[in-house]
Amino acid sequence: MGKYSIYNINCFEFMKTMPDSSVDLILTDPPYNISQYSTGNINLPGREALNNNIADWDNITLEPKELLNDFKRILKSDGNIFIFTSYNLIGKWHEVFDKEFDTFQFFVWHKTNPAPKIYKNGFLNSCEMIICMWNKGHTWNFSTQNEMHNFFESPICMQPERLKNPKHPAQKPVKLLKHIVNIASNKGDVVFDPFMGVGSTGVAALELGRKFGGCEIDKDYFEAAKKRLENIK
Ligand SMILES: C[S@@+](CC[C@H](N)C(=O)[O-])C[C@H]1O[C@@H](n2cnc3c(N)ncnc32)[C@H](O)[C@@H]1O
Repeated sequence: MGKYSIYNINCFEFMKTMPDSSVDLILTDPPYNISQYSTGNINLPGREALNNNIADWDNITLEPKELLNDFKRILKSDGNIFIFTSYNLIGKWHEVFDKEFDTFQFFVWHKTNPAPKIYKNGFLNSCEMIICMWNKGHTWNFSTQNEMHNFFESPICMQPERLKNPKHPAQKPVKLLKHIVNIASNKGDVVFDPFMGVGSTGVAALELGRKFGGCEIDKDYFEAAKKRLENIK
């Protein structure tokens, strides 16, 4: 593998072709299946409507059990897995993955600038959950107790990092991804993101001297990811 290999493909098909024990860190952000709870976009006077529907790609039903066998097979014995998820899927992930790994924990990303709720009718969605799992002997690069909090604060992805075309509603900030890549892998390791969107995990991995493998099913997002990765020296 060169510095990176990315594919415009359905990751469920692609993973079948991947060799056993070929990945050091799976860091991924699959669909959340939260669009089904949406009450629709919110029109804001004089501004662009607030996207409450996420996107079409969120309407597929994601079954964590369909990822388990390939994730376990491609991950090295000292590898780590970090998966962004949401309140409605956390139980399913736990049910399927907890018994398969020595440790199953969660990590919270606190967004310091979440979308506002102008009618003040509920909490802001300012926290995103990331589940993580590993087996004994896994890679772990903590230097201080402070770094060991299962909590990280950063704004949501903003200009100029945020892409305008295509605009991805779930583009993650590279700063957050770098924090995880640093803790959970070493230089030269292979980081894999089967649901890479516009390639943010790849940017974090390459900028930190890791190798990157990724899949994205949508052509426009894939092309945007390709462009971002090509620009990293
Ligand atoms: C939450 S987004 C990831 C966003 C990404 N973290 C970023 O910063 O750009 C999930 C992505 O998974 C893609 N996707 C959904 N099903 C897929 C599949 N079966 N194979 C590959 N990609 C898929 C969607 O098109 C979407 O871009």
